[in-house]
Amino acid sequence: MSFFRPQIEAMTGYVPGEQPQGGEFIKLNTNENPYPPSPAVAKAIEEALRRGLQKYPDPLANVFRRRAAEILGVAPDWIVAGNGSDDILTIVTRTFVGEGQLLRLPYPSYVLYKTLAQLQGARSEEVHFRRNWSLPEEFAATAKDLRLVFLANPNSPSGTVVSPQQVLELAERLPCPLLVDEAYADFAEVNCLDLVARSEKIMVSRTLSKSYALAGLRFGYVVAQPPLIEQLLKVKDSYNCDALSIAAATAAIGDQAWRTENRVKILATRQRLAAGLRELGFAAVDSQANFVWTTHPHRPAKTLYEELKRRGILVRYMDYPGWGDGLRISVGANAQIDACLEQLRQMV
Ligand SMILES: Cc1ncc(COP(=O)(O)O)c(C=O)c1O
Repeated sequence: MSFFRPQIEAMTGYVPGEQPQGGEFIKLNTNENPYPPSPAVAKAIEEALRRGLQKYPDPLANVFRRRAAEILGVAPDWIVAGNGSDDILTIVTRTFVGEGQLLRLPYPSYVLYKTLAQLQGARSEEVHFRRNWSLPEEFAATAKDLRLVFLANPNSPSGTVVSPQQVLELAERLPCPLLVDEAYADFAEVNCLDLVARSEKIMVSRTLSKSYALAGLRFGYVVAQPPLIEQLLKVKDSYNCDALSIAAATAAIGDQAWRTENRVKILATRQRLAAGLRELGFAAVDSQANFVWTTHPHRPAKTLYEELKRRGILVRYMDYPGWGDGLRISVGANAQIDACLEQLRQMV
């Protein structure tokens, strides 16, 4: 006899990218920002510490909602804050998808989506991107018990973007809500935030992990119309964001000058990385995120990953059954990318 829910026993569980804690690697495997965050973040954490941690935090993170609302041009009650955008994705899945119901995902994309469906005892349907990373028509098709669709935009691992116009058309055809996961949108040319006001089916999630350099803090949020927010709030943990992260995230999003400056640096290094890879004979997808998806015509990606790791450089090896494998290399600082390219040059 087993004590466990059959769905939990049957699943393998999400395996995050390696997180060595010692600093022995040049770490280009989980799309972290290589630069320290806005100095306003440390100040805000110190102030929050001075106020003390005896009391519970604001369950709604209202100071963050108000600050983010001003910057994003929406009302505060269109925002739910989360413990990283992974928390947001969990809340959204639990709100819309019941046992046996259907969640649609693009493939290859963020692997966690499928895990979230499995945790719910729900079914998931993977719709393959075309080889040029565009979405086929069937992504918008109706299907029995379809309750939610996820779309990472920019997508991971490709860094490619589906245009806001196409996202709106998709949402209009779908019989259920669409969560546009904009974890990387601050590095892109376009985003779908404005679509939230135009469609009650569209939700946009964001994170402070990447473009605000706060992966260690854990803070993300979702923007949607109030009737959806009202339901999402019922599902989230009461205190899903702690007092320190609320203070820090509010300071971080308040420093838009820092974000803009950081973006310029990341985009320049992304260009350097893609060009360097192509010079070495790699295929590199044009990315609108802070990473580049790359394959080599002759060298197996797995061997390159292993050899880079032996040489102290950690990139992400991804193998998508039915699609293929490759390397996803995060945009680090220039010196890190130059070191990575130099090691690759010696291998190919
Ligand atoms: C597409 C996508 N969405 C969401 C996340 C989760 O980000 P976080 O939980 O740090 O906000 C990631 C992290 O790598 C991601 O790649």
